[in-house]
Amino acid sequence: MITVETVASLKEHLARLRSGGKRVAFVPTMGNLHAGHLHLMQEARRQAQVVVASIYVNPLQFGQGEDFDAYPRTPAHDKTALLAAGVDLLFMPKESEIYPRGREAQTCVEVPGLSDILCGAFRPGHFRGVTTVVNRLFNLVAPDVALFGKKDYQQWLLVCLMAADLGMPVEIIGVDTVRDPDGLAMSSRNHYLTPDERNTAPRLYAALCAARDRMRHQKISPAEAEEGAARALKAAGFRLDYVSVRRCQDLALPQPDDRKFVILAAAWLGRTRLIDNLEFEWE
Ligand code: PAF
Repeated sequence: MITVETVASLKEHLARLRSGGKRVAFVPTMGNLHAGHLHLMQEARRQAQVVVASIYVNPLQFGQGEDFDAYPRTPAHDKTALLAAGVDLLFMPKESEIYPRGREAQTCVEVPGLSDILCGAFRPGHFRGVTTVVNRLFNLVAPDVALFGKKDYQQWLLVCLMAADLGMPVEIIGVDTVRDPDGLAMSSRNHYLTPDERNTAPRLYAALCAARDRMRHQKISPAEAEEGAARALKAAGFRLDYVSVRRCQDLALPQPDDRKFVILAAAWLGRTRLIDNLEFEWE
């Protein structure tokens, strides 16, 4: 695996790796890699002959008072994991490579509407930061295919919309969430949990599963499912940002004829904000 830090060396190595028309898959990350990320790398390997990963903790997607400084940075561990996962090229840029004119001066990309609901309503500017950095990374790497974890369901949909709206020649693939055996979705932020909080954390996914099951079997409405899940989460000790049943394809509120849903939640345990979601069909 080749590790590069500058745009110039990224482009040089990409030109060589791409020669002969090889297909390039790209997985952008913020590092502190876990089995969920490595699953993305494996899927990338199935999709293309060349796998490129990036590690960059993007300041533009953190709000004031959020965990940008505390975000876990584990470059040595990450490099070993990516090497073992068969990644060909790792891009680990400094801020000056990503935002050469400074982050305040950076041209931003924003998908209106979808950026402002659910997590966007609680983290103003977060998704503009995400689409801005992903757009920049796509332009630098020029991948044929890019892979995103569906744990960040709203992020994945936003990247799909951005790529479609801007006519980007890249295929976006959403990859299923990887979970610990007790159901907790893998996330770099799980490291923040105390042992007690870690014991409670799987109840987030359990509440989503229970809401889905009650919608399916007891024919309760989306609103009733949300209320039940919110009650269960509060009783377990979570501080809720939201729990919401939405249409899969665009995260709009469900309409009577809709059959494909996703229930999404964001909730705090102590100082840790956890998000999760569950897609399901309703007969
Ligand atoms: O999901 C993430 O890790 C980040 O939001 C991403 C896509 C790497 C952009 O910084």
